[in-house]
Amino acid sequence: MTTVADPAAAAARRPSAGARLLAVTSGKGGVGKTFVCANVAAALARRGERVLVLDADLGLANLDVVLNLAPQVTLHHVLEGRRPLDDALVHAPGGFTVLLAGSGLVEYSRLTADLRERLVDVVQALRPRFDRILLDTGAGISDVVLFTISLADDVLLVANPEPTSLTDAYATAKVLAATQQRRHLHLLVNQTAQAGDGARVCAQLQRVIARYVSPSLDRPLTLDLLGEVPDDPSVRDAVLKRELLLELFPGSPAARALAAAAAKMAR
Ligand SMILES: Nc1ncnc2c1ncn2[C@@H]1O[C@H](COP(=O)(O)OP(=O)(O)OP(=O)(O)O)[C@@H](O)[C@H]1O
Ligand SMILES: [Mg+2]
Repeated sequence: MTTVADPAAAAARRPSAGARLLAVTSGKGGVGKTFVCANVAAALARRGERVLVLDADLGLANLDVVLNLAPQVTLHHVLEGRRPLDDALVHAPGGFTVLLAGSGLVEYSRLTADLRERLVDVVQALRPRFDRILLDTGAGISDVVLFTISLADDVLLVANPEPTSLTDAYATAKVLAATQQRRHLHLLVNQTAQAGDGARVCAQLQRVIARYVSPSLDRPLTLDLLGEVPDDPSVRDAVLKRELLLELFPGSPAARALAAAAAKMAR
C-alpha cells in the first residue's frame, strides 16, 4: 500500500507548487463522485478559478460520458508517452479543463512503478497551470485509487445516507488515516432525503471514527461537512442529456447545494 512517505508522491503533493489538489473519493461506487466533480468544477470556474478535473478512474473512466466529450487524445496516450500533455487537455462545457482517461484499459487496474512515476510527472506538470485540480477517483480502495489519493493535498469523501455507503466511507477514512497519515477529511453527503441529513450522517461517521479509529492514532481523525446535496430528479435528467446540472437546471435544489459547497471550498 502506498503511503505519503513515498518521496515521488510527497513531491507531487507539495502545496507551494501551484494548484491545490483535491481527491474526490468514496469507497462505494455510484454515489455521485463524477457528478459532484464536474458540477463543483463548473461552480469554481464561475467564481474565476482555473480548474482542471483529472479523470483518475483509470480503468473505468466515465467523465467523458457525463460531459458528452469524445477526445481523440486521452491521459492514456500521455502516460504511454505517445502524445504531449497539452494535446490531451480539453475545454469542458462548464468553463473548466478536463484530462480524460478513456475506458476499459485493464493495464491501469494494477499499480506499477512506471505508472506511479508517470502519474506524478503529469500532476507536477499540471500544478503550475491551474488554481485547483480535482481528481475524480474510481470506487474502492485498490492500490491505484489509494495512490491517486496520495497525490492530493485534500480529500473529499462522497457518501450517501445508505448504510453500505457509510460503511465504505468509514473503511476508506480508516485506510487513509493509517496509510497516508490523513488526520482531516472533507465530507459531502449526496442524495439526502431531508435538510439536516448531511449533519446527521457526518456526526454519525465522526462518532464511529472517534471510537474505533482515532484511539490508535497520534492525533484524532476529524471530518468536516462540506455540504449536503439533496436527491433531485433534475440530476438524472441532466445526466441523461449529458449536460452539467449547473448549466441545465441552475436553480434546482441539487445545483444550488453544489454551488454552495464550491463557495465553501473556495473560502
Ligand atoms: N443528488 C442526486 N440526486 C439524484 N440522483 C443522483 C444524485 N447524485 C447522483 N445521482 C445519480 O447517481 C448516478 C451515479 O453518479 P456518478 O456516476 O457521479 O457516481 P460515481 O460515484 O462517480 O460512480 P463510480 O463509482 O462508478 O465512478 C448519476 O448518474 C445520477 O443518476
Ligand atoms: Mg465516477
